[in-house]
Amino acid sequence: MDSVYENSRIVLSTVASNENSRNEGNHSYEQESEREVNTAKWNKLLLTVFAVSLVFALGGLCVVSILYVRALTQQSAQTNTKIMKRQLEELTANCSRVKDDLYIKDSMMKDLTANYSRVKDDLHIKDSMVKELTANNSRIKEQQSFYKAFRASNMTAFQGKLYFFSSDKLTWSSSRAFCVSRGTDLVTITSRSEQAFLQSKMNEWTWIGLSDLETEGRWVWVNNQTLNDTGVEFWYKRQSGKSEPDNWTKDDPSGEHCAIVKYALNYLKSWFDVSCEHTYKFICEKKI
Ligand SMILES: *[C@@H]1O[C@H](CO)[C@@H](O)[C@H](O)[C@H]1NC(C)=O
Ligand SMILES: *[C@@H]1O[C@H](CO)[C@@H](O)[C@H](O)[C@H]1NC(C)=O
Ligand SMILES: *[C@@H]1O[C@H](CO)[C@@H](O)[C@H](O)[C@H]1NC(C)=O
Ligand SMILES: *[C@@H]1O[C@H](CO)[C@@H](O)[C@H](O)[C@H]1NC(C)=O
Ligand SMILES: *[C@@H]1O[C@H](CO)[C@@H](O)[C@H](O)[C@H]1NC(C)=O
Ligand SMILES: *[C@@H]1O[C@H](CO)[C@@H](O)[C@H](O)[C@H]1NC(C)=O
Ligand SMILES: *[C@@H]1O[C@H](CO)[C@@H](O)[C@H](O)[C@H]1NC(C)=O
Repeated sequence: MDSVYENSRIVLSTVASNENSRNEGNHSYEQESEREVNTAKWNKLLLTVFAVSLVFALGGLCVVSILYVRALTQQSAQTNTKIMKRQLEELTANCSRVKDDLYIKDSMMKDLTANYSRVKDDLHIKDSMVKELTANNSRIKEQQSFYKAFRASNMTAFQGKLYFFSSDKLTWSSSRAFCVSRGTDLVTITSRSEQAFLQSKMNEWTWIGLSDLETEGRWVWVNNQTLNDTGVEFWYKRQSGKSEPDNWTKDDPSGEHCAIVKYALNYLKSWFDVSCEHTYKFICEKKI
């Protein structure tokens, strides 16, 4: 700015000196040099004005640029914010979706677990049913084989056993062999009710599967159960003299080692030991 003032001072002084020289009156030369000086001064002035304008223009440009950059920055910040907001919303949505998914999966898992345990129970029930059916099936098969073996009537069932009452009379050993050959054995009496039932079906003296053939004096059933094992015995008891088994040797010098039921007596006291070589009817039995 100082230079501008200075220049204007020069301009003013130039105008003043022009007037002085006009007054002096040396016309053509003076006019010529005066014009030259003027032109130079105008050029200088114009240059100065141009420079000043340029400075202002540059300043303006700077300001505009700064504003523009700031606006741009602001806009991009806004855009970023918008994008981030969108992402946040998406994330929130995803998060809640994932939470819902987890919830669904959780309840599905519970459902599956419940179903699994139900299926397991079902299988267990079916399994035990299969076992029962298999047992029933094998029992029915046993029954069929029993009926097939004996064909005849005189068969009866009682408390889970099938009995065959023979009409033929055989020795104790032959009787047993007869039963065994048909997949059965001589009868084993294990309860008071069984004793009562069997005796009620008899019409003659009848072999049962009891003997002391294996060990003298030790009475055991054909299934190796002792009388202590079964807990019941129905030997004939005398008021005076020896009760059964008495190992009477008058009939057979080797003694008496096989047991019969004498059907006509009180069923609680109807067992006798007799010679195994006698022949009597017999009962075969099969557990089913
Ligand atoms: C939201 O889930 C969709 C689909 O699973 C996926 O494409 C997107 O990238 C997820 N968004 C974020 C922000 O994780
Ligand atoms: C569970 O069992 C029920 C009934 O059988 C069925 O409708 C359901 O789809 C099962 N659930 C699963 C998760 O398998
Ligand atoms: C097996 O037999 C028993 C007795 O006869 C009967 O009560 C039961 O229902 C049978 N079981 C099946 C699965 O058939
Ligand atoms: C059945 O038993 C009775 C009495 O022991 C006998 O008289 C009858 O002959 C027997 N019947 C058959 C088919 O064996
Ligand atoms: C039964 O009598 C026979 C023959 O006398 C004898 O050998 C046996 O030891 C007797 N048994 C008992 C248990 O007394
Ligand atoms: C009983 O015991 C004898 C030997 O003392 C044995 O040979 C037989 O197999 C046994 N019977 C049963 C049904 O266990
Ligand atoms: C049966 O048991 C009694 C005791 O309870 C015992 O004295 C006896 O010897 C036993 N008999 C046999 C044959 O085991």
